[in-house]
Amino acid sequence: MTKDKVLIFDTTLRDGEQSPGATMTHDEKLEIAELLDEMGVDIIEAGFPIASEGDFKAVSDIARLAKNSTICGLSRANFKDIDRCWEAVKHATSPRIHTFIGTSPLHRDIPGLTMDEMAERIHECVTHARNLCDNVQWSSMDATRTEWDFLKRTVDIAIKAGATTINIPDTVGYTEPVESADLIKRLIAEVDNADTVVFSTHCHNDLGMATANSLAAVAGGARQIECTINGLGERAGNTALEEVVMAMKVRSDILPFATEIDTTKIMSISRRVATVSGFPVQFNKAIVGKNAFAHESGIHQDGMLKNRETFEVMKPEDVGLAGTSLPLGKHSGRAALRDKLTKLGFEMGDNQLKDVFVRFKDLADRKKEVFDDDLIALVQQNSAVEDRLKLVSLRVVCGTEGPQEADMVMEIDGEQVETKATGDGPVDATFNAVKALFQHAARLQVYQVNAVTEGTDAQATVSVRMEEDGKIATGTSADTDTVVASAKAYINALNRLIVRREKSAPGEDTKTVSYKDA
Ligand code: KIV
Ligand code: ZN
Repeated sequence: MTKDKVLIFDTTLRDGEQSPGATMTHDEKLEIAELLDEMGVDIIEAGFPIASEGDFKAVSDIARLAKNSTICGLSRANFKDIDRCWEAVKHATSPRIHTFIGTSPLHRDIPGLTMDEMAERIHECVTHARNLCDNVQWSSMDATRTEWDFLKRTVDIAIKAGATTINIPDTVGYTEPVESADLIKRLIAEVDNADTVVFSTHCHNDLGMATANSLAAVAGGARQIECTINGLGERAGNTALEEVVMAMKVRSDILPFATEIDTTKIMSISRRVATVSGFPVQFNKAIVGKNAFAHESGIHQDGMLKNRETFEVMKPEDVGLAGTSLPLGKHSGRAALRDKLTKLGFEMGDNQLKDVFVRFKDLADRKKEVFDDDLIALVQQNSAVEDRLKLVSLRVVCGTEGPQEADMVMEIDGEQVETKATGDGPVDATFNAVKALFQHAARLQVYQVNAVTEGTDAQATVSVRMEEDGKIATGTSADTDTVVASAKAYINALNRLIVRREKSAPGEDTKTVSYKDA
């Protein structure tokens, strides 16, 4: 059976970054784009250029740096958005404009357009985009809840106006696999000149069916899948890139489709996206979860030792996860650390390695054996050079009689400041100290602690999620001292909130920009 090519359209930097709390800095976006470009993603949706100056700059810088991928920007269906999008993507060797409007009854209500007015708008906007760029993607947003006749009409108009890709989004994760396949099949059979465009699927995971729906759409004739690394995205997220790509690789017997993705790069990009977005990957997540290749029960281990295929449908090496052996210790050198990190899927430059090596030595001084999971937690710590707030030192006094006391020194914009604060428990005292040194109105929404490995000297990873004026940021950190990890995670989240605050003027943020004037 010959394999048809399925294009992989990654929207981690647009739909993924739109997820509440998943803020990336400019440099982090560029770094992720470079990794996507290297791993063979066909199209990178780099952002929503009209949303803010920051988004515009990220899309144009990514357009300049991409070597292989097509660079796409999102725009609502109006000339101002489309022009701004073109200004950003035009620097790419292969640019694409993606424009959309909500076509379902609920979404038509938002701009208050009649069906005829909307049809006219689609014609004008796709024509305008095509006059700027010869690669134009049209999306009828909320397609799966749009009346069939009107959906067909919007697609017919977009093709006639020159769209080269037609995307059929399941915006609210409402469809199911049989319906998903049938919808694409019917559109291909009934719209005019269907063979002149690529049909695309864009699924959300509200009912946990995004991967199944995307693959079903491909079986129905779609040849582009829109997805994100780790399934990052609004609400329950988007289709996970690693899941659809590995499903087509492992089940090529019944899914005879080829992609350009170098699957051995999956683990490293997954970890990097988890770190920079502040969204940890759930332990039992397919393909990239910590437990995806772990075999704990005796019967499974026994089977694995005899033949790994007993309980594994793919090899860990296929996704860039080499089985590693012994833990490192305080006598391990830089070469051993680099070797281990490479096996774990982290490729780092000399400067990055230098920084990790210093932190590794510090950890090895406190912990006899440094396991793979310790190293992953160490590398995934979210500190960035441009952080305005840094923890310098922390001493906490605890006892059965409260209140607990925290003595803290922080560096704020390069200046050292210190305070003593009390609280109901060591973590509360620590967070009160941060609040005293850096006043803010952000509210703590989530505080979560996990042990990285076993034993009383295990590191704790702490995740916090904070909210301020509707803006959300998450922070993570790891340390053998749970209270220190908590302080660093809290400060990390604050640094991310500051980035979000500074990133844009009110209403000019990707997460708050409205679809209303589309
Ligand atoms: O979910 C959706 O419909 C989208 C569109 C903008 C394509 O993200
Ligand atoms: Zn979406």
